[in-house]
Amino acid sequence: MPYRSCLESINPYIPGKRLEEVTRELGLQSVVKLASNENNMGCSPRVKEAVAAVLDAPSRYPDGNCTELRNELSSQTGLKPQQFIIGAGSFELIAFVAETFIAPGDEAIMPYPSFSWYGTVTRIKDGRIIQVPLGDHQVDLDAIRQRITDKTKVIWLCNPNNPTGTIFTGEQLAAFLAEVPRHIVVAVDEAYCDFVTGDGFPDTLQWIEQYSNLIVLRTFSKIHGLASLRIGYAAASEETVGYMNRVRQIFNVNAVAQVSAVASLRDAEFRERVYANNQEGKAFLYSSFSDLGLEYIPTEASFIMVHVKRDSEELFQQLLREGVIIRPGSGYGMNEWLRVTIGTEEENRIFIAALSKVLQKSVLSATG
Ligand SMILES: Cc1ncc(COP(=O)(O)O)c(C=O)c1O
Repeated sequence: MPYRSCLESINPYIPGKRLEEVTRELGLQSVVKLASNENNMGCSPRVKEAVAAVLDAPSRYPDGNCTELRNELSSQTGLKPQQFIIGAGSFELIAFVAETFIAPGDEAIMPYPSFSWYGTVTRIKDGRIIQVPLGDHQVDLDAIRQRITDKTKVIWLCNPNNPTGTIFTGEQLAAFLAEVPRHIVVAVDEAYCDFVTGDGFPDTLQWIEQYSNLIVLRTFSKIHGLASLRIGYAAASEETVGYMNRVRQIFNVNAVAQVSAVASLRDAEFRERVYANNQEGKAFLYSSFSDLGLEYIPTEASFIMVHVKRDSEELFQQLLREGVIIRPGSGYGMNEWLRVTIGTEEENRIFIAALSKVLQKSVLSATG
């Protein structure tokens, strides 16, 4: 068959294992999933009420313009509704950016390790992806700038970065944007921005007026806890949003997702609870890792990268048998690390108990 040759270099995305899958395969009673940076606190109770109302009319097409959601985003941010485009999660929005800007032979730059989908969508468009290593687990904006050529069309940035959880500040981003030619798109994926505690995180939505080449990507899958509904948004200049709308199929976001996102945006109290849980969980995991003698990367997100000093695939399998699913670092070129989502208090305790047990076993087998 005449498959496009650029597809040969693409490895299908491997998502975290599903709870039901692991429970069934291993015959376990209960399983804790801390592999996909989901919100284990659930979602706002207001979402359920909003969903019940739309489910009365599933025979109708949804609003193809997501009018109410874009209006709500506009009133909460001060941007115009025309500066927002809604997608079926950031996955789809990232693909829209590639679809809008990358032609065969173009280059796009991304940090490595970071969210691998940036590379995939670039390759799907027959573009070339340039991966720039992190420096001390941080996105190295200077090194990225040095890789700009006359073929560069898009720079993908992830802030906080997945999988390291580190951020770059507004000051660093402003210095970077000042050096990037305006015809190069800078797409900043802020999936985890609501968990940031450190100083100086940029308020990028307010920068869109100033930087015509800036696209900000946000999702309802993380702090809002709506991952299964598939919804996120991008904010950019009206012109860029206009072009991105040309590659979007008209009914890309279903009605349930739209009303859920609006209801969730109006429930700041739920988000505060999730944030507080993340803070508490982070403190507990930090101190537990220290007790176990494990180094970790201080995080600004809802997950932590911890240096387990042994093969992460093996550790992943061992933890699976204890009923805990995490993400091995091997997929990110960090083979002796694992990435764990900060869960509920109980889940974090179960994870630490399982990790202690598994590490103890491997010490015993190494010495015995
Ligand atoms: C950095 C980053 N961007 C985007 C996504 C995709 O999010 P969504 O569920 O909105 O498609 C993820 C999901 O884990 C992510 O970690």
